[in-house]
Order: sequence, then C-alpha cells, then structure tokens
Amino acid sequence: MKPINVGLLGLGTVGGGTLTVLRRNGEEITRRAGREIRVMRAAVRNVDKARALAGNLPLTTDPFEVVTDPNIDIVVELIGGLEPARELVMQAIANGKHVVTANKHLVAKHGNEIFAAAQAKGVMVAFEAAVAGGIPIIKALREGLTANRIEWLAGIINGTSNFILTEMRDKGAAFEDVLKEAQRLGYAEADPTFDIEGIDAAHKLTILSAIAFGIPMQFDRAYTEGISKLTREDVKYAEELGYRIKLLGIARRAENGIELRVHPTLIPERRLIANVDGAMNAVLVRGDAVGPTLYYGAGAGAEPTASAVVADLVDVTRLHTADPHHRVPHLAFQPDQLADTPILQMDEVRTAYYLRLRAFDRPGVLADITRILADSHISIDAMVQKEPAEGEEQVNIILLTHVTVEKNINAAIAKIETLDSVAGTVMRIRLEELTGR
Ligand code: NDP
Ligand code: HSE
Repeated sequence: MKPINVGLLGLGTVGGGTLTVLRRNGEEITRRAGREIRVMRAAVRNVDKARALAGNLPLTTDPFEVVTDPNIDIVVELIGGLEPARELVMQAIANGKHVVTANKHLVAKHGNEIFAAAQAKGVMVAFEAAVAGGIPIIKALREGLTANRIEWLAGIINGTSNFILTEMRDKGAAFEDVLKEAQRLGYAEADPTFDIEGIDAAHKLTILSAIAFGIPMQFDRAYTEGISKLTREDVKYAEELGYRIKLLGIARRAENGIELRVHPTLIPERRLIANVDGAMNAVLVRGDAVGPTLYYGAGAGAEPTASAVVADLVDVTRLHTADPHHRVPHLAFQPDQLADTPILQMDEVRTAYYLRLRAFDRPGVLADITRILADSHISIDAMVQKEPAEGEEQVNIILLTHVTVEKNINAAIAKIETLDSVAGTVMRIRLEELTGR
C-alpha cells in the first residue's frame, strides 16, 4: 500500500522527538499501521537551527505551504500557542487533511470549533499528546472506559510544576533554579507561567472533563490556582500530618453540576498518586463499573510526547479510509449527544481543607477559632499548635477540616482574619482523600 504523507509543523522538543521516533522505529510502526508513515516536509521559523536534525527533509518557514500542500494527508501541529496554530489547523481541515496536535491550549480554547469543522469535513483531529505527555489517557477514557459512568478524575497533569514541587521538597532547591532546569529539559511551556499558575493543567483538565462527561470544552469555567504561593513551611506541616502537596486537576460529577478545578491539594501520602514525583504525571479515574484506575507515565519531554503523537498518527492511518460515522467520536460521545450539565462555581465545590494561621499564644484563641468554624457548620478533623519560635509571641496553628462547602470555609476564614488574636491572613489549601466520594 502506498505511504501516508505527513507534514510537520514545528521541529522543536516534540516535533524533533516525533521525527526521531518515526525514523528509529519506522519499520515496526509500518507493520502496525499497515503502511509507511512518511514525513514529507516540515515548517520551522529558523531553518538553520533545524537543519542538523532534519537532514535532507525539505524545510519551509511558511507553515501555510504545508497545510495547503495537496500531497499531504496528515498535518501534525507542534508549534504551540493559539495563532497561527488555530488558523493552520482550520485550513488543514478545510483542505480535507487529518490533524494530529499536542496543543492543549488550542484544543481547550478552540476545540469545539475545531471538532465541528472536522466533523463536517469528515476528517479526524487527534490530540493524545495534549494531555499527560506519553500516557494514553485520552485513549483509555474514550475507549477503554467507555462502559462506565465516570464519577470523577484527579490528575497530576503538569510535569513542570510536579518537578518543581519534588525538587523543592527532596533537595530543598529554590523555585527559580528548578524552573530553569525544567526549561532546559524541554518540559516547560513557552510561557512558563502557564505551568506554574495551573493554566496548562486547566487546559488539560478541560479536555479530560469533556471526554469523561460528554460536555463541550469549557476552559473559561475552570477554577485555576497554581503553586507560586505555596511555602516550604506548608509542605513540611502537610508531611508531618501524613500528606503530600500536589498540583491536582480535579473533575467531579456532583449533585448540581460538575466541579472543574486545578489547585495545590493535600493528598494522603499512602495513596499511589501522592508518590508521583519529578516530571511524571498520573491520572486517577473512578468509573462506576471499574472503580478506581490509575494511569502513570512521563508527562513531558521529547520522546514520551512523541510516543503519543506517533500513536495518533498510527490511529489516523488505520482509520482514515473508514466511514467517518463509524470512527471513535472526537470527544468520546456522539457530537449531537453532548450534555449541558453546568460547571459549578468554586463557591459550591465540596472538599476538605488545610488551614494555617498565626495567632498570639493566649488563652481563648483556639476557642474563638473553633467557635467560628462551628458556627459555619465546619467540623475539625485535626488541630496542631506549633511551639513558638525563640523570642516570638505568635504560633502557627494548623487545622484540617472535614468536607464542607467552599463558601462556608471562605466565610469562616474572613471572620477568623478579623480576630485581634490572629495575625495576617489564613493560608488555605484544599485536601482530598481521593477515596470513593
Ligand atoms: P518548541 O518551542 O520546542 O518547538 C516549537 C517548534 O515550532 C519549533 O520548531 C519552532 O521553530 C516552530 N514554530 C513556532 N512557531 C512557528 C511558526 N509560526 N511557523 C513555523 N514554525 C514555528 O515547543 P514544544 O515542542 O515544546 O511544544 C510544541 C507543542 O507541544 C506545544 O503545543 C506544547 O504545549 C505541546 N507539548 C509539549 C510538551 C513538551 O514536553 N515540550 C509535552 C506535551 C505537549 P523555531 O525553533 O525555528 O522557532
Ligand atoms: N509544560 C507541560 C508540562 C508539557 O510541564 O506538563 C507537557 O504537556
């Protein structure tokens, strides 16, 4: 059978990894796909920089030449960002080409428009590499778990922030130094605030939630909080209480809607997912039939991500002659079957909390605090008062609460902060047991 022709947009970390893997494993990939997957040309900004890797592969600085090339069957978008990536993908679809992309930003923001265009044109848009690097989590959710009603999922889905948290905890390394190392290793986004402030994780969570619950992409409704405000003190106190702090993306089916949130989270250290370190990712998915399942692997980097890109290329190669109506739907559910289940406001989310506050070591302080919590219907799971440091009048008080509604804890924190005996603001980190709930 004649080869299927691929045009690559981008030959950076992921594009370079993809070319390398296709070249190294080409023979086996052909045996799997049923025909050769042949890279015809690639687009980059700087041809000289890419030449050593590309060898005699034709290069262009105009990516639109690739998406309009009549000889190309599949366009692989690996340049990142919203524009010109969106325009390139839309033009590729309009030209009847299948698309493979690793661009979670693009899929989370413009996925609804892109999938509608692809559906109308009868082409595939595959995006396994967009979530959790090399872990085949899209495939697992969309196909392997298709019998299940997904109840919730929780994932460490940003390698850079997990790498930073791990290095800070294990080696006492400084935040800025670890971030530089993550950039050097090719893990970080072009704008690393996307990694640190939870935006990249929210893009990925948006995609996972759409596939898990059969809802449209709604990135703008996701709650996003990153790791930049975490202190070493909180990491240490959490560990003393038997917890690890991880940046988690959580999507949960609740009574009145869907929780969609990214934030630092205390997790019991005995859970497998609490021990996922470095740039590794893991996604815990709970289905009503299967129960909890856990997917683990490299969340970033050249060849792990290329592994997912090439898997998509093989899928598209196998299926591109199939009747479009009999392919796996882009978002797992048939396009006319997407639900309009609301995404809950953060105020309505139910979870447990870690609170740290600084208070004067005087009689009655704890009573004041516990009364405020009781008045807000918040029950305390654990409370620790640390010894004051030499010469200091204030002590750190750590509280763990049982599950409550976010608006109740916010109201209680506001009242606690007005107490004369309490100094400064209350540190609040959410806590998830990640059991049946
Ligand atoms: P890089 O910055 O390493 O590579 C980007 C590539 O795109 C470079 O070859 C660059 O060319 C080229 N490029 C950028 N803009 C243009 C343009 N306008 N025209 C032509 N070429 C262009 O990015 P990554 O490989 O790290 O990331 C690519 C995508 O994969 C992003 O969407 C990212 O979020 C995603 N991703 C990245 C992962 C990772 O571990 N790095 C993991 C999973 C997904 P030049 O070098 O000449 O400027
Ligand atoms: N910047 C991303 C991360 C790349 O660190 O997880 C993988 O999507």
